[in-house]
Amino acid sequence: MDRVSNLPDELLCHILSFLTTKEAALTSILSKRWRNMFVFGPNLDIDDSEFLYPQEGKRERDGVLESFMEFVDRVLELQGTSTINKVSLKCRTGVDAKRVDRWICNVLARGVSNLGLSIVLGDRYRLHPRGFENRKLVKLKIGSGIDLGWCNGAIYLPMLKTLVLESVEFCADYKLKMLLAACPALEVLEMDNVKGLDHSNETVSSASLKSLIIKSSLVSSATFSFDTPSLVFLYYSDFVPEDYPLANLQNLSEARINISLTDDQVERARFPNEYDDEYDDAVRLVNMAKLMSGIRNVQRLYFNSTTLEVLSLCCESMPVFNNLKVLGFYSGKSVWEAVPVLLKNCPHLETLCITGLLHLVTETCGDVCDCIPREDKGRSIASCPVKGIEIEGFIGTMREITMISHFLEYFPCLEDILITVEGNCPTNEFDVPEATDFKAQMLELYYKSLSCNVEIFGCESLLTKLSAQ
Ligand SMILES: *[C@@H]1O[C@H](CO)[C@@H](O)[C@H](O)[C@H]1NC(C)=O
Ligand SMILES: *[C@@H]1O[C@H](CO)[C@@H](O)[C@H](O)[C@H]1NC(C)=O
Ligand SMILES: *[C@@H]1O[C@H](CO)[C@@H](O)[C@H](O)[C@H]1NC(C)=O
Ligand SMILES: *[C@@H]1O[C@H](CO)[C@@H](O)[C@H](O)[C@H]1NC(C)=O
Repeated sequence: MDRVSNLPDELLCHILSFLTTKEAALTSILSKRWRNMFVFGPNLDIDDSEFLYPQEGKRERDGVLESFMEFVDRVLELQGTSTINKVSLKCRTGVDAKRVDRWICNVLARGVSNLGLSIVLGDRYRLHPRGFENRKLVKLKIGSGIDLGWCNGAIYLPMLKTLVLESVEFCADYKLKMLLAACPALEVLEMDNVKGLDHSNETVSSASLKSLIIKSSLVSSATFSFDTPSLVFLYYSDFVPEDYPLANLQNLSEARINISLTDDQVERARFPNEYDDEYDDAVRLVNMAKLMSGIRNVQRLYFNSTTLEVLSLCCESMPVFNNLKVLGFYSGKSVWEAVPVLLKNCPHLETLCITGLLHLVTETCGDVCDCIPREDKGRSIASCPVKGIEIEGFIGTMREITMISHFLEYFPCLEDILITVEGNCPTNEFDVPEATDFKAQMLELYYKSLSCNVEIFGCESLLTKLSAQ
């Protein structure tokens, strides 16, 4: 204990800064000097569940909530006006909203730069707007249970660089555009399950934004625009809107796009001619091409199978991706209609990553893949300069091996193929009905691979079989 007491103040503060406020409070019982120290640490991490949950039913017991609130009041009182860097505040039902307001205003006034809030108080809690005219806040995370009720323009956060909104709700009349205008230095915006956005017309507009993460925020809004000329990274996972009137993303370097479709939309996308009712999803899904055109300068582009499905409707208006080096997609059970167009429109592609080669076979197959025999076999890959192909989720079927063999034959610049086997090894060759064919195919693959480096991960026996033939 003496040794601990003799540590220099800065070191003690540093150690305490890694503990939650309650842990630090407990630790500080050990040493009187330390007790005063924890109160003056640079970080405050208050989670009411740590105080109230350890024993079942404790929260309900008389006086427990009150003593939690008194503890926080006391800590803040002891800290006085000392500056503070990082504060995390998590409170649930039963805590007094007025006191929560006071705590937040207290730490904002003391220049907190990194603030995380998750406050669930029965009714949705509204942050007090007064506190959010703040020149010190650099990182703000607003978690569940909070209603963004900062109407009437009270908010102004000129230093804010990172804003994370998780399961919060925008109140009526408060638009994303207003929030972004109040954060002129914002570089990172993450919106996860944000509700209450304007369903008719929403725009992410920011000249400073570099990284944007959207996880189901819009739920089929009518139009969605990106006016983000400095954006470098986009993660976009949502239902597809009817239109993208503006897609200003010319500086984007990496895009990861996961579009959600209902089964009904997939059906309409696949057979557009069989549906000509007023919904006309196929028509609106075509607008995805506008987003594609907006991101045409990307260097790395990844998407999942449902996005591939939507892109099959945009083949005619697919832009040329002149800077694209890495293209990755999950193929799942989608159609491959867009794949030939994508490969033709990426004149400088270096790496192709495909998770799951087994797609849905359609009449238009047989160009990039080898599903349907046709005369102009391999046409669109003959001009593709791809050097490396990474295949994940390989399950060891004949169709996959035939396809890899086709790639080896037609991609003119191919140097490496990396295959990662899904789960266990592929079916034992003797379990495969066409075992002789399988062996012959493997042999053919091996000979073709002599000029190309083929590596298989995750399955020793397949690997040895390949090289032993
Ligand atoms: C949608 O919003 C943008 C920018 O806020 C505006 O220019 C455009 O006119 C709006 N469109 C509609 C249909 O309201
Ligand atoms: C785009 O990126 C380049 C290089 O990273 C940078 O110099 C330029 O300022 C960026 N443009 C915008 C509008 O952010
Ligand atoms: C594609 O991404 C969306 C959004 O995350 C998801 O809802 C959908 O299930 C994904 N599709 C597949 C086939 O994984
Ligand atoms: C995006 O799609 C891929 C492929 O379906 C999936 O593995 C990934 O988890 C998805 N991400 C999200 C956040 O939906």
